[in-house]
Amino acid sequence: MGVGIVGIGTAVPPRILTNFDLEKMVDTSDEWITTRTGIKERHIADSNVNPSDLGTEASLKALEMAKIAPEEIDLIIVTSASLEMIFPSMAAIIQDKIGAKNAGGFDLLSACTGFVSALITGAQFIKTGDVKTVLVVGTEVLSRFVDWEDRNTCVLFGDGAGAVVLKEVGENYGLLSWSLHLDGSGADLLAIPGGCARNPCSEEVIKNKLHYIKMNGKEVFKFSVRVIGEVTEEALLKAGLSSKDLNWLVPHQANIRIIEAGAERLGISLDKVAINIQKYGNTSTASIPLALEELIREKRIKDGDIVALVGFGAGLSWGSAILRWKNIE
Ligand code: UT7
Repeated sequence: MGVGIVGIGTAVPPRILTNFDLEKMVDTSDEWITTRTGIKERHIADSNVNPSDLGTEASLKALEMAKIAPEEIDLIIVTSASLEMIFPSMAAIIQDKIGAKNAGGFDLLSACTGFVSALITGAQFIKTGDVKTVLVVGTEVLSRFVDWEDRNTCVLFGDGAGAVVLKEVGENYGLLSWSLHLDGSGADLLAIPGGCARNPCSEEVIKNKLHYIKMNGKEVFKFSVRVIGEVTEEALLKAGLSSKDLNWLVPHQANIRIIEAGAERLGISLDKVAINIQKYGNTSTASIPLALEELIREKRIKDGDIVALVGFGAGLSWGSAILRWKNIE
């Protein structure tokens, strides 16, 4: 059974923070950020906006495109690297906000690989025949977890959300194959170490800024450059395909240089790669749907196209999902 995307929606908060704004906040420059990351600006949520708000807006748009009523959703899977609370799940909060009164659901935690993992997970539920309609949401207010005094990280991240509705789309369409990996030996390379069980909230945690994103940028960069092409090739192979068959690469938007390295490894030109990092920065679980939605909206993606989604990040975690695109009517 082919399971694919029948609706997509996104949401970003209206406030924009440019590289020039950041120049006034930390010792950085538009030139450094642009050349080292590809980012020009990012959207930042106001203090009264939570990840579930952005996730709700994206979900309602995805449902509208899919022409599906909230009551028809069987399962909601929300993935986020900027949790609203440890519990309840954001799936529950979004379920209530969109009125999906017949849905079950849960949150899935896999940092920047979250969207790929959640999409693959949702598709399995439909493939078993147990459910018909799954809503997958990636939503972030990462700006709450950024140390705005740390130039190594604060220039990278942004807020936003993306949601897709998954349904049966016909044989040979939709999710063809996938590949997921973990290497927890790299857990310390990218983490929010404080505020949970290991380092519960305390004056010490706050003094040491352990409630903010800590990243060994160089090591995560090397890891990302290695896996982005590797895992996409691996997933393509499982579908009996190669990078020559690829019409679109939709990568997690972490750094333009990582994306370029992935395209080079796969031997594809950059005009086959969805890139919008310049506008949003790294929005973790939201970056893949934000990039995919643009391709769909601009009608650049065609029926039958082979599309590779690829995510990578904290865990360390990485994964790819290969889809044969079914046009959304
Ligand atoms: O979403 C999950 C996956 N995340 C990623 O994949 C992110 C991976 N990492 C990266 O994208 C890059 O490592 C960064 C963009 C974070 C950093 O780029 P880099 O080329 O690895 O720079 P670097 O860490 O080697 O730093 C080079 C220099 C350093 O100065 P010194 O020590 O050479 O004097 C930094 O202090 O650039 C300095 N620097 C900055 N300068 C101006 C670091 N951040 C900034 C900044 N503005 N914002």
